[in-house]
Amino acid sequence: MVNSEYELRAATADEHDRFAGLFAAAMMFESTPTDLDRELFEPKRALVAVDGDQFIASAKAMSRDLSVPGGVVPAAHVTAVGVRATHRRQGILSRLMSRQLREVPEALAVLWASEPGIYGRFGYAPAAWGVSYEVDLHRVMPHPVYRGGGRIEEVLAEDAPAQLAPMLRELQAKRPGVSGRSEQRWRRQLEDKPENRGGRTARQILVHRDEAGALDGYALWRGKLSWGPAGPANEVTVEELVALEPTAYHALWHHLLTLDLAAKLEYGNAAVDEPLQQLVSNPVALSRRLTESLWVRLTDVPRALAQRRYATGVDVVIEVTDDLLEANNGRFRLTGDAEHASCEPTESASDLSLSVNELSAAYLGGRPLAEFAATGRVTEHTPGALSATTVAFSWPVAPVSLEIF
Ligand SMILES: CC(C)(COP(=O)(O)OP(=O)(O)OC[C@H]1O[C@@H](n2cnc3c(N)ncnc32)[C@H](O)[C@@H]1OP(=O)(O)O)[C@@H](O)C(=O)NCCC(=O)NCCS
Repeated sequence: MVNSEYELRAATADEHDRFAGLFAAAMMFESTPTDLDRELFEPKRALVAVDGDQFIASAKAMSRDLSVPGGVVPAAHVTAVGVRATHRRQGILSRLMSRQLREVPEALAVLWASEPGIYGRFGYAPAAWGVSYEVDLHRVMPHPVYRGGGRIEEVLAEDAPAQLAPMLRELQAKRPGVSGRSEQRWRRQLEDKPENRGGRTARQILVHRDEAGALDGYALWRGKLSWGPAGPANEVTVEELVALEPTAYHALWHHLLTLDLAAKLEYGNAAVDEPLQQLVSNPVALSRRLTESLWVRLTDVPRALAQRRYATGVDVVIEVTDDLLEANNGRFRLTGDAEHASCEPTESASDLSLSVNELSAAYLGGRPLAEFAATGRVTEHTPGALSATTVAFSWPVAPVSLEIF
C-alpha cells in the first residue's frame, strides 16, 4: 500500500532539531543535537514527510566524496532514514527513497543499512564487505614489530583533524569505498560525548611518524577496564586505523595488540584483504566475521561507469534495467582501462544484461559480476564477455568503508 496523502518536502534550516528528533525516535536513541550538527545540516537535501504539524518520516543525503576504483567522486551519502512507528508500512519510505533518488545530482548514492531487507528494492546493493574482529589477545600472538624505524605519538583531539586529514585523503587514492571528510566532518567524527562511550575511556588518538618525522599512519581507539576471575581482562576498541606505509601499519597494530592488561580487542571496519591477518601467528584468534558495509546505488549509469577506472581494458555493451530511474534503462557501451573510461547509450546488441542492483554491487570492485551470473542475475549474450568484464570491474585492493554514517 502506498499512502500518498502526506506531503513530502525539503526541510528548512531551522528544522534541524525536529528532523533529528524524528530520526532518533525511529532508531530508538536520545537526540542531543549540537551546533556542529546544525552547521552540517543540508536542509535542501533533507526530505521530510508531514502529517498535519507532525514530522512522520525523514531521509537525507550528505554531499561527500567517495573513493572508487581509480578516483574520488562525489557520492550522495544517504542517512537519517526513518519513519515514525505509528506511520510504518504505508509506503512512506518508498515515496521518500524514490523522490530522493530522482533528485540526487551525483551519479551514485551510498548508505549503510540498519537491516539488509530494506534497500535492495530501491536498486541498492552491498558493494563492500566489512570484517569485524573480536581478537582474543592471549591467543593471537603478534609477530615481532617490524624494525623500520619511526615512532608512535599521542595527539590531542583539537590538533587531530589537521594532522589526520591528509592521511585519509591519501588512503582514498589507494583504496575504494572510503568517504572523504571536510574539516567540519572531521570535527564531527572526533566528537567524543561521554554518554556515547559505553563505559569506555575517552578516544585515544595515535599517530605514527617515519624516521624523517613525516606522518604516515594513525589509529583511533578506546579502552575499557575489566577484571575477570583470572585477573585483568581489559578491552580495546579500535575505531579506525589508517597506515600509508608498512612500517606504520606494523607499528600501530603491534602497539594495539600488545597493550598491557588487555584481553580482548574489537575492530569493526577491517577490509576482506586486511593485512593484519599476516602479522599474527594465529589468525583464527582474530575471530573474523563478514558483514555488509557500504551499499551502492548508481543513479546515473553512464556517468558513474565513466567516473571509475578498470583493471584491464574493457569494451562491452551492457543492457541495464532499472525499475525506478527511467534514464538508466537501455544499452550502454562501456570502453575503458586503467587510465580512461567512457560510457554512452548505444543501439548495438548487448554482451551482458543485468539490473542496476548488480551493476551497483560490482561498482567498487569488491564483488565479481560472475557471482551474479551464477544465480541468473547477470546474463551473458556474447561468450567470454562475462569473464572479461568481471576482471575489468575488479580492483587489486578490496573496498572498505571506514565509518558508519
Ligand atoms: C525501515 C523503515 C524506514 C521502513 O519504512 P516504511 O515506511 O514502513 O516502509 P514502506 O512502507 O515504504 O515499505 C516498503 C517495503 O519495504 C519493506 N520493509 C520496510 N521495512 C523493512 C525492514 N526493516 N526490513 C525488511 N523489509 C522492510 C516493507 O515490507 C515494504 O515491502 P512491500 O513493498 O513488499 O510491501 C521504518 O520502519 C523505520 O523507520 N524503521 C526504524 C528505523 C530504521 O531502521 N531506519 C533505517 C535506517 S538505515
